[in-house]
Amino acid sequence: MLFVCTGNVCRSPLAEAVLRTELLRRNGHQDIVVDSAGTHADHIGQQADPRMRSVARSHGITVHHRARRLEPSELSSWDMIFAMDEGHLRIMTRYAREDEVAGRILLFRSYDPVRDDRYFPDVPDPWYGARDGFERVYEIVSRTCQRITDALLADRHD
Ligand code: 4NP
Repeated sequence: MLFVCTGNVCRSPLAEAVLRTELLRRNGHQDIVVDSAGTHADHIGQQADPRMRSVARSHGITVHHRARRLEPSELSSWDMIFAMDEGHLRIMTRYAREDEVAGRILLFRSYDPVRDDRYFPDVPDPWYGARDGFERVYEIVSRTCQRITDALLADRHD
């Protein structure tokens, strides 16, 4: 499972940490590889944004990740690739030359049970905003990762 946002310092590292935590909590699964990457290079090597880490920590989630840039060639090696907003989806669909790969690139919020906010279908970019924007991202990511976990675990029990 790969999560992709712009800088790989806010949305996608949070989704990576939340999904990993949820998989461990629900089924002790450590065999599903979860990672994240960014479409831009500006923050390569940096830890997740301190505001994002602080909000995550307040919900019991530890974010351990160093930002990296998405390699177009890696798209073919992931089973599911989640775009945190439509911009990332467009960029990756352009990278993915084969339909087979494009079919595994999904909008993250296609799994969100709540769709009635003005940001849908995007996870809003919190970078230039205040702490409440990071809280909003956490709420969206948390409930959406629960649904993704439901789907992954249901697949395994079929
Ligand atoms: P992210 O947030 O894509 O969720 O990691 C951003 C981080 C940095 C920038 C934009 C979005 N930036 O413009 O530097």
